[in-house]
Amino acid sequence: MKTIHIDLPGNSYRYQVKIGSQILSSVLKDNFLNYSEKRIFLVTNSTLHALYPEFEQTFLPEKLESECLILPDGEQYKTLETVSRIFDFLVDKKANRKSILIAFGGGVIGDIAGFAASAFMRGIAYIQIPTTLLSQVDSGIGGKTGINHKAGKNLIGAFKQPLQTIVDVDFLKTLPEREFIAGYAELIKHGFIRDPYLFQLLNHKNLNELKSDEELLIESIFRSCEVKARVVEADEKETSQRAILNFGHTLGHFLETHTNYKQFLHGEAVIIGMDYAAWWSFQQGFLDEADFRIIHDHLYSLGIMKTIPPVTRDEFIRIIEVDKKFSDEGIRFIGLTGIGKARIFDRISSESLWDNLQAYFQTGALLKLA
Ligand code: NAD
Ligand code: GLY
Repeated sequence: MKTIHIDLPGNSYRYQVKIGSQILSSVLKDNFLNYSEKRIFLVTNSTLHALYPEFEQTFLPEKLESECLILPDGEQYKTLETVSRIFDFLVDKKANRKSILIAFGGGVIGDIAGFAASAFMRGIAYIQIPTTLLSQVDSGIGGKTGINHKAGKNLIGAFKQPLQTIVDVDFLKTLPEREFIAGYAELIKHGFIRDPYLFQLLNHKNLNELKSDEELLIESIFRSCEVKARVVEADEKETSQRAILNFGHTLGHFLETHTNYKQFLHGEAVIIGMDYAAWWSFQQGFLDEADFRIIHDHLYSLGIMKTIPPVTRDEFIRIIEVDKKFSDEGIRFIGLTGIGKARIFDRISSESLWDNLQAYFQTGALLKLA
């Protein structure tokens, strides 16, 4: 088992991320050794509940009783109504300030349950048990929690760090292939922005090799989480450096919004977004051509090629400027100056991104217009 320590000096808070295979029950047992309450509160979704119906008996320490809330599965339930359901559940079951909530699921469950934990009785502790590759390397650590608003994704939320995050790769065995690729986008993103060794480890490997080699899988997730952990430690509230985690997300968010969240999984949009961001960096003279080609070939090998509906300049600018990374001064765009070297570019105009995008479309690489 591997352990990452996250130390947040700003709010005097530390926690650990445990990573391994079949570690969940023993790690949970350690966690609850000195826990004085009798019960814990579990939040999951209907898919996980169907796949792991014996979750409580298999993984929770015997001495504990559990109360379980099973939410419907889907991003469309990442709403205030669902958070309200969690509050009702906690009130009905008489949870108190010392209660611990466990979020068992992907990023949607982690984000909603973490947000509920941040507000219930002004904040109770919660444990993240992320079950998708995306949540294991990204949303399960770093403390961003939240829900969607009709005006935009993740518009409402809080920073609430978990008590612990337990990454058990065994859960990935049931994860659908498409979700695995989407999670891989965020995993390899951490290589592109900060860890060239992580990229080297995975370049020229196909995803089946990664899935079937448990040691490689754990090492890759560990290194990827390390990158996120160090970035979050340096800038928990995203006042500066944390923005590099948004590499590939400017075009990614545009693609998701433009296609009404129907055509892309988030990670799929990020794959194309990273390809575009690397291409942009090369075009602007920050990234040399050889590195761009290496990055592009790797992303191309993931097999995500999409055709999107036509878009006008005004539509593009409208969508891109709603994005959280837009301020009065322009877009904050994340580019690369090398593999493992991200740089923040401020005050990029949305018009210039539109012009660049036209040229990117001409390359016809991963994205085409219908
Ligand atoms: P998700 O939670 O919707 O999970 C994807 C699908 O996989 C769901 O149908 C889920 O039920 C299923 N699933 C989960 N684990 C499984 C398993 N082990 N076996 C089989 N099926 C399983 O999606 P996600 O990609 O994990 O997370 C996306 C969400 O995370 C978005 O809402 C996004 O905004 C959020 N996010 C948050 C952060 C953050 O820092 N908080 C970072 C990135 C993304
Ligand atoms: N997923 C980006 C962040 O956590 O900041």
